[in-house]
Amino acid sequence: AIDISKLRAQTGLITLDPGYVNTGSCESSITFIDGEKGILRHRGYPIEDLCEKTDFLETAYLVIYGRLPSQAEYDRFRDDIAEHSLPHNGLSRMFEAFPKDSHPMALLASVLPSMYAYYPYDENDPAQVDKAILRLLGKIPVLASWVYRKLRGWPLNYSNPDQSYAANFLDLTFNTPANRFKLDPDIVKALDLLLILHADHEQNCSAATVRMIGSSQVNLYAAIAGGMCSLWGPLHGGANQKVLEMLEVIKNDGGDIQKYLDLAKDKESGFRLMGFGHRVYKNFDPRARIIKKHADRVLSKLGINDPLLKLAKELEEAALNDSYFVDRKLYPNVDFYSGIIYKAMGIPTEMFTVMFAVGRLPGWIAQWREMQSGSTRISRPRQVYQGETRRDLMSMVKNH
Ligand code: ACO
Repeated sequence: AIDISKLRAQTGLITLDPGYVNTGSCESSITFIDGEKGILRHRGYPIEDLCEKTDFLETAYLVIYGRLPSQAEYDRFRDDIAEHSLPHNGLSRMFEAFPKDSHPMALLASVLPSMYAYYPYDENDPAQVDKAILRLLGKIPVLASWVYRKLRGWPLNYSNPDQSYAANFLDLTFNTPANRFKLDPDIVKALDLLLILHADHEQNCSAATVRMIGSSQVNLYAAIAGGMCSLWGPLHGGANQKVLEMLEVIKNDGGDIQKYLDLAKDKESGFRLMGFGHRVYKNFDPRARIIKKHADRVLSKLGINDPLLKLAKELEEAALNDSYFVDRKLYPNVDFYSGIIYKAMGIPTEMFTVMFAVGRLPGWIAQWREMQSGSTRISRPRQVYQGETRRDLMSMVKNH
């Protein structure tokens, strides 16, 4: 690799790479992706093995701390997270200021930087930094469930430390006396799997944002808030919501798949096939493969025959036989099938990106920790200026 800062100092050269298509922003040991082969590994462990042999907390520990926990470390991690799971009442009161039809991401992303007001910490004290990490892992799922309940006008629930992370989230969110939520082990396992699949994905838009913001040495909560806002966009984590909305539109339009493929190929239309394509994967996104397999299982377990799953499979099949998508190596990404499982679990479409955020939290934390422990240089890209050169100023305003 070329050290650009040395080269620039010697030559005055600036690389122009809009969208950072070919620019490495850091060295990292967290996540490995081979986009040509469709390989994803965290700390060297294949994503398929992590899905089969760990739960979300174990994967989160691995991603954040770099190695698998011993049983004692795992138990301690789980207990510490549970101990720090109760959000301050002031944070839930913030939600009351929002309109009832707010997007859930607006609430969750707003509350994050405010955590520093309730839990300030000394950045130079590693024990306090660790506590901030546990607070995020403990409180974010609770706050995410509170967003859902607040928008419905339901009373809030509190964490049950005896349940797994995934079971606790489902229980927190859906349990009401009128609707006693039964934690089906297969549904809990499916959510756990979805969380694992979202745990990290190297220098994606939101992780790069966390590093960019964090490089100013702002507190962890503010850096994660930035990542969460970046995730919200439809080209990133917001795509899971858009996929389901797109499938509904196609279904309601008579299921005319070819019409929408043609629309996606027409650059003037402004329409893209949501859940398709990836900056790094030029092959199947391994996460999409795993989710697709589980979508069938979850839906049949719940006795749901969702026409959207059938439509999604037909759309995938048609795109993979279309030279436009084949030539550009556009395959389904993680967001293509995840929404169908979330929907089957009873999670409303507008909550999908919140679910992504809960899963991605360990990745953001790990990227932030790695950045903090390495170069402390502020991230500050350069530009190629294209504006006016020097002009003489003659003001046209008479009354200032
Ligand atoms: N539908 C139709 N055409 C597409 C799509 C799509 N979903 N994705 C890419 N293309 C086309 C582009 O128009 C471009 O065509 P061209 O070479 O004729 O100009 C070519 O494929 C390359 O696409 P880029 O936009 O250059 O790819 P980039 O790496 O910048 O973008 C992205 C990747 C944002 C994921 C893109 O594929 C996309 O918009 N997909 C839909 C949104 C989506 O699913 N996002 C989730 C990504 S996964 C995640 O973040 C969790």
